[in-house]
Amino acid sequence: MVWVYLLANWLSTQPWRALNGTNNETLLRDPLYIGMRGKRITGQKYDEFLDEFMQAVVRRCGQNCLIQFEDFANANASRLLDKYRDQYCTFNDDIQGTASVAVAGLLTSLKLKNTKLIGNKILFFGAGEATLVKPSAQPSRPTLAPFSPVEYNGKKFHPGQGSNAYIFPGIALAAEKLADLCDENDLEKGSLYPPLEKITPRSVEIAKYIMEYAYQKGLATVTAEPKNVKEFIINQMYKLEYPSALPEIYSWNNTKE
Ligand SMILES: *[C@@H]1O[C@H](CO)[C@@H](O)[C@H](O)[C@H]1NC(C)=O
Ligand SMILES: *[C@@H]1O[C@H](CO)[C@@H](O)[C@H](O)[C@H]1NC(C)=O
Ligand SMILES: *[C@@H]1O[C@H](CO)[C@@H](O)[C@H](O)[C@H]1NC(C)=O
Ligand SMILES: *[C@@H]1O[C@H](CO)[C@@H](O)[C@H](O)[C@H]1NC(C)=O
Repeated sequence: MVWVYLLANWLSTQPWRALNGTNNETLLRDPLYIGMRGKRITGQKYDEFLDEFMQAVVRRCGQNCLIQFEDFANANASRLLDKYRDQYCTFNDDIQGTASVAVAGLLTSLKLKNTKLIGNKILFFGAGEATLVKPSAQPSRPTLAPFSPVEYNGKKFHPGQGSNAYIFPGIALAAEKLADLCDENDLEKGSLYPPLEKITPRSVEIAKYIMEYAYQKGLATVTAEPKNVKEFIINQMYKLEYPSALPEIYSWNNTKE
């Protein structure tokens, strides 16, 4: 399945399954499968479908709508990014997101070791699109992927997960900020990233940094600068709390005085 996220306004996202059908026979026979029952489209039709999708999104949501490509197969991902990047406000999470979060890890490790990037050897390790990066800056500090603690030279390291969710949609600028957001405690534990349970407050800091940068450099063109940037961001964020669907009730106290 392929998802395209529409970031209609910055932090609230809308997942869309852009390509219909699946080639997985198990899914095709599964009565609970929610997708379209049929094989995936390929070839020229595939490309035309995506073109049409991109046009439709812009027609409906505007040219400023950020379209995030997620989980597109590698060969097509680069091709589509090149094709659309100058025409649409778009980015590919697996390519640019992963790269940015790896850069954040590298920046943090350079700070820890107080060296420059040029003096380090970098090992790309693993398979798949999000290859694990191990900077020599700190041996045994995997930059991506969640792992259990590792012991090295008598010290326990807790590898932090380099989640792409930290940096989108700020990309490289967010990588810089993310590297600043590891506190002493995270670094002490050997993590190059803040723990994921802190993602919400850390994301606000990243978004604030990017927003301030954009206003400072005259790059913000959609909304006038809000008085309180942080408050503005928090108000745009999707909240995972649902109010009760039931009306408020009280217990009738039948006791006679
Ligand atoms: C097909 O989908 C099923 C259910 O999601 C999954 O368990 C299976 O691994 C898939 N098969 C292939 C070949 O991807
Ligand atoms: C997928 O979309 C194309 C174009 O709209 C359509 O012709 C085709 O029937 C769809 N496939 C399925 C399985 O619904
Ligand atoms: C990549 O794009 C081509 C069309 O150019 C399509 O035929 C193919 O199915 C796509 N690959 C995947 C894995 O979606
Ligand atoms: C009901 O009201 C009476 C009188 O005000 C009070 O003494 C009693 O604690 C109340 N009971 C409950 C269950 O609220």
